[in-house]
Amino acid sequence: MHFHILTLFPEMVTGTLNTSITGRAMEKGLIRVDAVNIRDYSKDKHHHVDDAPYGGGAGMVMQPGPVFDAYEALAARLGKRPRVLYMTPQGRVFNQDIARELAQEEDLVFLCGHYEGIDERVLEMIVTDHISIGDYVLTGGELPAMVMIDCISRLIPGVLNNDVSAEFESFHDNLLEYPQYTRPESFMGRRVPEVLLSGHHKNIGQWRRQKAIERTLKERPDLLEQASLTPKEQAFLEELKKSAELTNG
Ligand code: ADE
Repeated sequence: MHFHILTLFPEMVTGTLNTSITGRAMEKGLIRVDAVNIRDYSKDKHHHVDDAPYGGGAGMVMQPGPVFDAYEALAARLGKRPRVLYMTPQGRVFNQDIARELAQEEDLVFLCGHYEGIDERVLEMIVTDHISIGDYVLTGGELPAMVMIDCISRLIPGVLNNDVSAEFESFHDNLLEYPQYTRPESFMGRRVPEVLLSGHHKNIGQWRRQKAIERTLKERPDLLEQASLTPKEQAFLEELKKSAELTNG
């Protein structure tokens, strides 16, 4: 997978993604991350890329020309016109399903805005997807692009050491992940749940599913509607709900 990031702050993205699992994936040649500095495409003698908004209002708007030229130069270099994801709180909210779909592409372009956004005309011309990483406002699109690249990268075969773990965890089956424990067996008087020490795989599996259901009910009850539970698990969930009602009055 080849990620291309159109940004005014290339050092912000390359520095971070070079480390840890994404860094190793780059070394192994499984992913490639290239940042393109939009400012390099300014035709202004002072390398300006923004101007005041027509119609008035606070802040500055990124001009269409440098963004358009940066994308066209990239497309010409690649010999194709990859999908362009515009990072914006006005977009579709990113989730694991979108990550899975994007992980199928060969090239992805992330367009990162700053200031009060980017001139609408160039967005109409080159953007294929408007994507938000959540209902809050950040100062620019670089952090959202990094979040998405991290999430998509770990779905690419070989990036994680064990390919099963990309599937069997949070959001698999619309349940949150069960709690994990490691040595020591007792930490400041808190013991690891006995079942995990039992070596009884069936019981461990069942306990983990129950913990996942419990946690999902507490933190993200909205997810449970889409979860596929066995009749026994459904009964367990109903019991949990009943006892929660009792304690909450
Ligand atoms: N740019 C600013 N805030 C954002 C958000 N929440 N998601 C994506 N891009 C953004």
